[in-house]
Amino acid sequence: MRRPEYIAKQGGMPRGWLGRFVASIMERETTAINYDAIARLDPKEGDAVLDVGTGNGISLRHLAARVGEGIVVGVDHSPVMCGRAERNNKTLIVDGRVEVKCTGSDDLPFETGYFDAAMSVHTIYFWNPAEPHLKEIARVLRPGGKFVLAFRSSSDPATSDFPASVYTFRSIEEIESLADSCGFENFIYENGSEMETLLSATRE
Ligand SMILES: C[S@@+](CC[C@H](N)C(=O)[O-])C[C@H]1O[C@@H](n2cnc3c(N)ncnc32)[C@H](O)[C@@H]1O
Repeated sequence: MRRPEYIAKQGGMPRGWLGRFVASIMERETTAINYDAIARLDPKEGDAVLDVGTGNGISLRHLAARVGEGIVVGVDHSPVMCGRAERNNKTLIVDGRVEVKCTGSDDLPFETGYFDAAMSVHTIYFWNPAEPHLKEIARVLRPGGKFVLAFRSSSDPATSDFPASVYTFRSIEEIESLADSCGFENFIYENGSEMETLLSATRE
């Protein structure tokens, strides 16, 4: 279904009542690809894991179940989404196993090399240019740390539903070249359950 521009904009930065409405649809639409990304990331017991642009933060509790005594952090620049992610992970936050930070992905408030693994689902379309965001994710990952990026590539027919004024869709080759120039290597691709692309890479 073709999205008008004012709805599409909410995907990149949900705000107000319309943002809350779009967020509830997003929660249903992105569950499967988040499961795919977590399976690909395959975090280990004790890992520190980052989800960039976590949205509703549904991923966070599934990541927390995998890392046990480790720590899971979700970041999002939308206060509406941070509120929803906090509500969806209330007990885990109280227990100190999950944190939600309301911040932009080009300025992450973490030490260099803090995380063992990072993922980001349906976010890179809003990063234009993408380099400051990918470099910042690479900075906070330890060398050898794993990164999974899930996205629809420009060859996916579903992308025609989204206005180019809001969404920047890129080819798989463009995404790999961007990631390569930002400190990632060892690229592996696979399809998600709804034909999205999952790119796995490691921090150089
Ligand atoms: C389409 S939603 C996807 C949310 C979630 N990853 C999912 O799969 O359901 C994109 C999310 O990324 C967030 N986002 C986009 N650009 C961001 C940025 N530069 N920094 C932090 N969050 C960002 C938006 O606020 C929104 O919550």
